[in-house]
Amino acid sequence: MLNKKMQDAFNEQINWEIFSGYLYLSMAAQFADAGMPGGQSWMTVQYKEELVHAQMMFDYVLERGGRVTLGAIAKPQAKWKDGLAMFKEALAHEEKVTARIHDLASLALELKDHATYNFLQWYIAEQVEEEATASDMVQKFTMAGEHPAGLYQLDKELAARTFMASSVTTW
Ligand SMILES: [Fe+2]
Ligand SMILES: [Fe+2]
Repeated sequence: MLNKKMQDAFNEQINWEIFSGYLYLSMAAQFADAGMPGGQSWMTVQYKEELVHAQMMFDYVLERGGRVTLGAIAKPQAKWKDGLAMFKEALAHEEKVTARIHDLASLALELKDHATYNFLQWYIAEQVEEEATASDMVQKFTMAGEHPAGLYQLDKELAARTFMASSVTTW
């Protein structure tokens, strides 16, 4: 059975994953407002992936005989200066999530909960990708600057990303 400390930490992280999704959904709205459907679509995919991250933890807590308790989701920021500002915040946010996932893994080791440590390896690898992707986007938006042609091209590139539950997890 899942240790109470581990269970509480998962419950907090479930909230963070859903908040991450909420933050990206807010960015999707901002991209829509800016007339960038590619950015809107990209952020919507990101939103869905975060919900899957939360769902996988939810399922894991239950599988280990724990109790899921949901808290309030914080209100995300609603406006950013531009796409670059959004991806800079996405990167900073993902860095915080990475630190939290590492704390969860450290707690699992401390509790000698190797099953949970193993479960968290997927998230540790996922965070490496999340940070690399956000950082790549910061670079691309920095290059595009305020050039309409560059931003138009970049928006088309963002539109190509699709959501596949199977790419998020092993279900
Ligand atoms: Fe996540
Ligand atoms: Fe994420």
